[in-house]
Amino acid sequence: MLAIESSCDETAAAVVTKDLRVLSSVVASQNELHERFGGVVPEIASRAHVQRILPVIDEAIRQAGVTLPDLAVIAVVTQPGLVGSLLVGLTAAKTLALVLNKPLVAVNHIEGHIYACRLAAGRDLFPCIGLVVSGGHTNLYHCHTATRFELIGATIDDAAGEAFDKIASVLKLPYPGGPMIEKVAQTGNPQAFRFPRTFIKEDRLDFSFSGVKTSVLYEANGQPGAHTQPPALTERRIADIAASFQAAVIDVLVTKCRQALRRFPCKTLCVGGGVAANQAFREALGEMAQRERVELHLSPREYCTDNAAMAAVGWELFEAGQLAQLDQDVVPGLVRKSSDV
Ligand code: KG4
Ligand code: ZN
Repeated sequence: MLAIESSCDETAAAVVTKDLRVLSSVVASQNELHERFGGVVPEIASRAHVQRILPVIDEAIRQAGVTLPDLAVIAVVTQPGLVGSLLVGLTAAKTLALVLNKPLVAVNHIEGHIYACRLAAGRDLFPCIGLVVSGGHTNLYHCHTATRFELIGATIDDAAGEAFDKIASVLKLPYPGGPMIEKVAQTGNPQAFRFPRTFIKEDRLDFSFSGVKTSVLYEANGQPGAHTQPPALTERRIADIAASFQAAVIDVLVTKCRQALRRFPCKTLCVGGGVAANQAFREALGEMAQRERVELHLSPREYCTDNAAMAAVGWELFEAGQLAQLDQDVVPGLVRKSSDV
């Protein structure tokens, strides 16, 4: 299978065999294009995808040591994401499917993030509780099968990764913020500040990160109208704020996973998405899973941030006969509580 992913700001292609061996996974990141804006600029992303999609596909085919006629099926991520970005991948996939006369399958990016755990496990993990924690989403699912997800909790404002990115910019750390916060947090004290942990004591599976974001902003820059100025943002203070912020976010994420595992008859937890690359988060999940006696499956680090290997979930659709046609459209946007996946 050739899998194509272009939902946000990574142009990616992978070749994955039917028994889920990843023969190649090529990712062209656009970080350098969006860095000076502090976030992804959709039009810049779409234009970069147009320039990169064919070289990335070529490279994935070359690295896999296959030729286009060898392919059995073309998989492409069609939802959720940025409309212009998604359309570039879909158009490339449709063109290849038409020219090569190969079947096409339309993949859900969120299901892909969880399927990264399945790729690493080498065996079926469903049903499970799934947490996708990325730049756009912080969503908890009861995953009945690899492609039938029930949304059981979601952020009501920012996604966790988005909060990492915004706090990094408050602390004047480079973009993308998640990996930088993780780096400076290593030298900081996670108990230096007690930032809010919204909903943590409530029996609901939703998330909110706007409170912690505002608290960190006030701690770093002071409160508007306040008479006193906050201390200067020294390296030490930045590290302490980063570590305390990271600890608050991790605390909430791990607690909500535990609550979901207790509420649903599932003994398996799968976690994917960019924030799942965070080592402190991975360790906290590991400790919780051990205490709760549940099986934890983390997406391998290289498949946490966006990539096309995780679109191998398309094999499940192919085998179930759920093929896409050439009039397939994209479903842009973000998945929030009121909508369905
Ligand atoms: O899954 P992803 O590549 O894209 C989306 O689907 O959104 O996730 C990107 C997000 C960014 O917000 C980035 O800051 C965050 O994941 N991220 C991290 C780490 N690596 C990436 N957050 C915390 N710690 C990390 N090590
Ligand atoms: Zn993603």
